[in-house]
Amino acid sequence: MVSVLIVGATRGFGASLVKQYASDSSNSVYATTRSESGPDGFPDSVKWLFKVELTKPNVGEELTKQLQGQKPFDLVIISAGRFTTESFSANPSEGPNWTEELTMYTTSSIAPVFIVHQLFHSKLLSSGSKVILVSSESGSITLRHESEGGGNYAHHASKAALNMVGKLLSLDLKDAGVVVSVVHPGFMRTEMTKGVGFDKYWDNGGAVTPDEAAESMIKWAETLDMSKSGEYWAPRGPRDIGTAEPVLGKGLSTPMKLPW
Ligand SMILES: NC(=O)c1ccc[n+]([C@@H]2O[C@H](COP(=O)([O-])OP(=O)(O)OC[C@H]3O[C@@H](n4cnc5c(N)ncnc54)[C@H](OP(=O)(O)O)[C@@H]3O)[C@@H](O)[C@H]2O)c1
Ligand SMILES: *[C@@H]1O[C@H](CO)[C@@H](O)[C@H](O)[C@H]1NC(C)=O
Repeated sequence: MVSVLIVGATRGFGASLVKQYASDSSNSVYATTRSESGPDGFPDSVKWLFKVELTKPNVGEELTKQLQGQKPFDLVIISAGRFTTESFSANPSEGPNWTEELTMYTTSSIAPVFIVHQLFHSKLLSSGSKVILVSSESGSITLRHESEGGGNYAHHASKAALNMVGKLLSLDLKDAGVVVSVVHPGFMRTEMTKGVGFDKYWDNGGAVTPDEAAESMIKWAETLDMSKSGEYWAPRGPRDIGTAEPVLGKGLSTPMKLPW
């Protein structure tokens, strides 16, 4: 029996997490949407929190004002994310895009600070609570490799910034007994990867459904404790991280601790 809050729960990985947690009726599942009503296709037991928009400075307050009087969560997973492609091209429609960069950095790496800060100071996180920040292996500087080339500056760099945020929050929350974990959920067949044309890599890249990735993440969350707080892990291991072996060599384990 767990109480869990999933931020960014309408589609993709977040939606899969919500459905799997809600399939056990002893769990208490809270989920966020940026719209004013809950999406269709979810179990009735899911408690939706509305207008939680990660590009807005008041995202933390918007969230906690809908949770007044609640007990602290066992688990909070921040899954919301944004990916639009960028290259070094001189063509403005392919090169870096300022507006898109702001959206990606704000969503990935600014909003999570305000959400966790506000949740903690509203007593919605306490000793034993776990926070999972959904990052990506693309945020690892060590794992970038010439086989992949550059580009996608804001998407990758905003995840690298989120990794730093996770490390710092883990230090802030250590004495309070709150665990902070930074994870790569796996390469998934979602609208995000299709939207950037990565569906052409789904088969060769070993992409899994968000349901499969959610199952792995739920197992990860169960075993997570203070000994892994402030660390960066891939619960599903190296199998869908194309640069893992070229950079780190063979014989990598699953789950895999990722290099920053
Ligand atoms: N897919 C992959 O292969 C992959 C790999 C590594 C890491 N990840 C990470 O895993 C997470 C989930 O990815 P996904 O593939 O499930 O993405 P997705 O299918 O594109 O879904 C994104 C979710 O984030 C929400 N969201 C986006 N911007 C938001 C904002 N400004 N405020 C509030 N909610 C917002 C969306 O809500 P709306 O419905 O309102 O748009 C949607 O629920 C992301 O953090 C992503 O970076 C994914
Ligand atoms: C940059 O992104 C914004 C927001 O998505 C879009 O309106 C604009 O057309 C883009 N600029 C270019 C040059 O593609």
